Amino acid sequence: MAERIPEALRKKITDRLHFYEDLGIRQFYQDRICGPSESSPPVAFVSPPDIIEEMPLPKPVRKPELPKAAPVTAAVAPRISPLPLPVAAGPSLFESIDKIADDTLLKIREDLGECTRCKLHGTRHTIVFGDGNPKAELVFVGEGPGADEDAQGLPFVGRAGKLLTQMIEAMGLQRKDVYICNVVKCRPPENRQPEEDEVSTCSPFLLRQIDAIAPKVIVCLGAVAAKTLLQTNRGISQFRGEWLEFRGRKLLATYHPAYLLRNPPAKSEVWKDLQKVMAVLGLEVKKGKPAEAGKSA
Ligand code: URA
Repeated sequence: MAERIPEALRKKITDRLHFYEDLGIRQFYQDRICGPSESSPPVAFVSPPDIIEEMPLPKPVRKPELPKAAPVTAAVAPRISPLPLPVAAGPSLFESIDKIADDTLLKIREDLGECTRCKLHGTRHTIVFGDGNPKAELVFVGEGPGADEDAQGLPFVGRAGKLLTQMIEAMGLQRKDVYICNVVKCRPPENRQPEEDEVSTCSPFLLRQIDAIAPKVIVCLGAVAAKTLLQTNRGISQFRGEWLEFRGRKLLATYHPAYLLRNPPAKSEVWKDLQKVMAVLGLEVKKGKPAEAGKSA
């Protein structure tokens, strides 16, 4: 079957699937096996914004192994609203975890150790804990290390990382001023999306990192970070660029730099989001496009 698809079309489809992946939509093949129905129309060739607005993300195939906390969906709706900060309907996985007094990044790193808590340890080379200012006012949270990060032990040092660095510099900051980390600390094989058990095993460390740093603003880069911290299955485009709350801190979700590499026009949306962050941090908000982040990385 696949051999009959012309090369150019195959590339187009591959690019489009990557594009959806960046938006957190990944389960096309599962949908196809189930067959189209009224409640799950075929998704191919529908423009991405329509998909994001209309379709909730597909339910995970694997049974989540989350600790017994409030059901993920219970607190979703009230959480996804712009400031004034929403009142949660019930404690989410994260809201119910107490802040550890006097926690430090050093202690958290020590506790993480040479982690073997989830299956990602089997294929990783280096744990990518996080990097930057332990007292940063701004924390960026990505999805998980890629190949470059896995090799170097530092977050966002590959192509997407270079673009993130440009964006940070366009904000008038340097990487050492902010803190950068990921939902999972080990590279998922072949850069696949981290699975629920991996996220639930690793995210307590992310939570402690955020609590220890106590930033003014958290920026989630992409759907995985946003969905993890906000405990939602809504598409990122429904709340991208909105001020939300995470454990009493301001949180804003924006597109992942890897998505911007494939879709440079979306850079202007991200730049608008970052300008909102700059305003909250008291940084000079420049008019127009950033000098560097607008260029292709
Ligand atoms: N993408 C991420 O989400 N994190 C990284 O550290 C690098 C790429």
